[in-house]
Amino acid sequence: MVETDTTAVRVAGLTKRFGSGEASVLALRGVDLEVRTGELLMLVGPSGCGKTTLISVLAGIMDKTDGALSVLGVDPSAMSVNDRTRWRGEHIGFVFQAFNLMPALTAAENVSIPLLIRNVPQTEALQRARAMLERVELADRADALPEQLSGGQQQRVAIARALVHEPQLVVCDEPTSSLDHETGRHVMEILHGMTRASRRTLIVVTHDARIFGFADRIARMDDGRVVAVEAGAANAVPASPTSAGQELERGRDPHLQVVPTT
Ligand SMILES: Nc1ncnc2c1ncn2[C@@H]1O[C@H](COP(=O)(O)OP(=O)(O)OP(=O)(O)O)[C@@H](O)[C@H]1O
Ligand SMILES: [Mg+2]
Repeated sequence: MVETDTTAVRVAGLTKRFGSGEASVLALRGVDLEVRTGELLMLVGPSGCGKTTLISVLAGIMDKTDGALSVLGVDPSAMSVNDRTRWRGEHIGFVFQAFNLMPALTAAENVSIPLLIRNVPQTEALQRARAMLERVELADRADALPEQLSGGQQQRVAIARALVHEPQLVVCDEPTSSLDHETGRHVMEILHGMTRASRRTLIVVTHDARIFGFADRIARMDDGRVVAVEAGAANAVPASPTSAGQELERGRDPHLQVVPTT
């Protein structure tokens, strides 16, 4: 697998089978996809088409079954469990739909976890976590527990946690789906701003047409394959992603052929 400056992810003929025998499910049926370094790629498609499975394989959370896989120049499926865990802790940030914060830990403690895993001393880890919370506009809530935070605030804590160790690839599974319109767009603005400034690669699974305006490209999946990749509005309308999103919602963007699936 060749590493280049311009390709963060390259997959060809990627398959993933859950289980074996007659009850097995072929969730990925030969995915071909390239994601460029620094781009924001959105992944859309009907429920059950394999979006979560694909990003889990890319992030080294699940093994592939077959096919060519290169993520930041390596194939995580080919690594030992220990090497893969270390690689993931170093290079990958993951934002889940359901936030997945530790309920007994404060926001700052939650954000510090990826640093503690990497043996950063606790005081420094908490300092960096607080600085990251400031960037997601939550400096004043750093000592709150997750249950004391709104959904949008919890998702911003989860984003801070995914980015605090400065991963090269950030993967998000429906990060705005449990948030209302305004909050979802604000969370996406923060995520977009923080990754764009540092040329991080961002892959966002979404059903949320209201955030399509942030995408450089949109890949549509169906039945375990990527069936189309289209330019997103971020290329077409360089001004404000917010206004691009509004234009998209009104169906005016000529560069985007993908239609929302829900
Ligand atoms: N652990 C598992 N064991 C068996 N089958 C699974 C497992 N995880 C997912 N699947 C199956 O693989 C297929 C793809 O699932 P996946 O979760 O990737 O879909 P998705 O596109 O993320 O859907 P949604 O939009 O509903 O989240 C589905 O048929 C699902 O039932
Ligand atoms: Mg899913």
